[in-house]
Amino acid sequence: MPDPIFAASWLQYPKKTGEAPIEFLFDFTPRGPAKKATLQATALGVYAATLNGAKVGGEVLAPGWTNYRKRLQYQTYDITELLAEGVNRLSIELGPGWRMHEKNRNKRHAKLWPGPLPGGRETALLAALTLEYKDGTRETLSTGDGWRCRKSKTRCANMYNGETYDAGFVDKHPLPARTVDFPKDILIPLQGERIVETERLPVQRMFTTPQGELVLDFGQVLTGYVEFQIKGPAKKKGTLRHAEILDAAGNFYTANLRRAKQEIEFVCDGKPHVYLPAFTFQGFRYVQPKGWPCEVKPEDFTAVVVHSEMKRTGYFECSEPLVNRLFSNVVWGMRGNFLDVPTDCPQRDERLGWTGDAQVFCRTASYLYDCERFFSKWLADLAGEQLPNGGVPHVIPRVHWNGDSSAGWADAAVICPWEIYRTYGNQEILRRQFDSMRAWVDYMIAHSKGGLWTGGGHFGDWLNLDGKDATPKPVLQGAFFAYSTGILVKAGEALGIDVEKYRVQRQQTEQAFRREFIRDGKLACNTQTACALALHFGLVQGDMRKSVAAQLESLIRACGHLTTGFLGAPYLLHALSENGLASLAYGLLLRREYPSWLYPVTMGATTIWERWDGQRPDGSFQSAGMNSFNHYAYGSVADWLFGAVAGIQTDEAGPGFRHIVFAPRPDARLDYAHAEIDTRRGLVKAGWRKSGEGFAYAFTVPEGCTAEARLEGRVITLGPGEHTIGEGE
Ligand code: BGC
Repeated sequence: MPDPIFAASWLQYPKKTGEAPIEFLFDFTPRGPAKKATLQATALGVYAATLNGAKVGGEVLAPGWTNYRKRLQYQTYDITELLAEGVNRLSIELGPGWRMHEKNRNKRHAKLWPGPLPGGRETALLAALTLEYKDGTRETLSTGDGWRCRKSKTRCANMYNGETYDAGFVDKHPLPARTVDFPKDILIPLQGERIVETERLPVQRMFTTPQGELVLDFGQVLTGYVEFQIKGPAKKKGTLRHAEILDAAGNFYTANLRRAKQEIEFVCDGKPHVYLPAFTFQGFRYVQPKGWPCEVKPEDFTAVVVHSEMKRTGYFECSEPLVNRLFSNVVWGMRGNFLDVPTDCPQRDERLGWTGDAQVFCRTASYLYDCERFFSKWLADLAGEQLPNGGVPHVIPRVHWNGDSSAGWADAAVICPWEIYRTYGNQEILRRQFDSMRAWVDYMIAHSKGGLWTGGGHFGDWLNLDGKDATPKPVLQGAFFAYSTGILVKAGEALGIDVEKYRVQRQQTEQAFRREFIRDGKLACNTQTACALALHFGLVQGDMRKSVAAQLESLIRACGHLTTGFLGAPYLLHALSENGLASLAYGLLLRREYPSWLYPVTMGATTIWERWDGQRPDGSFQSAGMNSFNHYAYGSVADWLFGAVAGIQTDEAGPGFRHIVFAPRPDARLDYAHAEIDTRRGLVKAGWRKSGEGFAYAFTVPEGCTAEARLEGRVITLGPGEHTIGEGE
């Protein structure tokens, strides 16, 4: 039996709505005592339901974001507790949410994916209420006849710009809702995680800026919204502005939001209100109440953190407080950008599912939180958005025709499923994504010459410090072609699929890479990123590996710091520590001056910055145009904290930590380091501390797992339980 929602009718407001949310109303009287009541709902837009004035479900921003033309999630709520005797009122408010992006999907896109679902940002609602009576009968009341609709008190809502709420407004002319014949074969039950409110933060400090503006500081850059109490004379308007950072002079700074206003406007009606936005989210740390109609009291404002509901699993701590703050910033970076879709940033007029960013951060994410469901859902969207030739759009869901298939971005199709499989050990994601993974590799094969992928538009080693194309695009293309093809081979082997063709391809690409880009045992382009990729992707072996490692070492020593961008940074420290240069890697990790991971921390960062120099030491900004202070990509360094500092690694031959490799690379600049990951097989822990002239190690292996410790040249087999090694040595 299909779920009741499939029998419901799509509803729309009978007139154009623009950005105005609409409230759909349905009054009903149960025909007897009910033992269970269930609501299923979804929307083109985002909806919020109440029954008899009480919120339905813990979700916010439902139904989440997918490519609505192909897939639309619906939610199922148990509302038994909210049901009353007599007349009940179900209200579902509907705002544009991510539906706004549909208007940008241009003609070229529409040609590729024609469908019965119209584009544009007009919203629509679909819901079914099922009552199971004590007498054994059941009744389903679905959207359709008898539903009315009216303009909401939220007069305007936009994901980027915020909301305007008019407490005094009442639409006195509800209209019968119009039924529309939109498809229902796009409906899927919730596949990702619920989007929920996960934490509430009080104001830390209230101050007046040099420009004389009153500002509240929550002490943490976050994604969500502010709940506030407000009371003012009828028609008086208060505006709450949101910002991530203060400028050099200490003033409220919003230029980096670009066109995203992220403002909440509240029009008073003389009565006290507690307000919480329902159709938008903001990226912020500071808020500025402007034209506030009552006294601004810090206790009247609370920041509400919103993201996909995931179980926290990964923890790290060491003796250097700045590194601990860096780790915390990585966690907050993930919390700020895992909102049904892994986004690049949560604040400016972007907030999109950038594939490259998700790819570089995926392993770190999989350690910090259990995000298998989250990625399963997004990767299904990715597969659904893939072009007929296997090409992968830059952002998923695709929002406009902004090209596709950049090296290191499109590879998310292959790298993300593999990382999720490595961490959780569940073949399901490989099985489901395999066709998509293969299609992407086939795309590169189809666009290759002599083993190397040619042509196309690429972002390069985005935001690196060597200069735009210092690592030429063909080098990046060659490296990612080989890397993704190699992963496809491993995935095929895990699934028992014949991948011989790809094994040969990987070898050919590897050879072509060396032939084309290596001269006298060194990367001809002489950048840290090129060396790191060649080393980490296994494109050089033997003596060549040694000489490339030496090249990387001398490049770093020559300038004394990293110069890598989005594509090189995730692998840089691994490339060093895997090649006998762990001490140099620590030097980069612990460096405090620009450019480094700790520099933003010394500047007071509470999340990961998009740029190494987002804010300069004098407080000035690198750029206004592209300068996010909550961009998780460089947070990928945390997987080195887990894998090399504390030393927890999963073995690809025993994924999901079935076989654990403990390979800590302790360094005397730290007194101790410790990490734990709550894996699917139990708690895995690793740590060390200085002991005499050396280090003492402690490892925990869950029941049912096997493990080995690779320590200073020794390999020690460990069984389940707790182990200490080197104590007192
Ligand atoms: C985004 C990125 C993304 C990039 C592509 C930017 O605007 O914020 O993080 O990967 O474009 O180069």
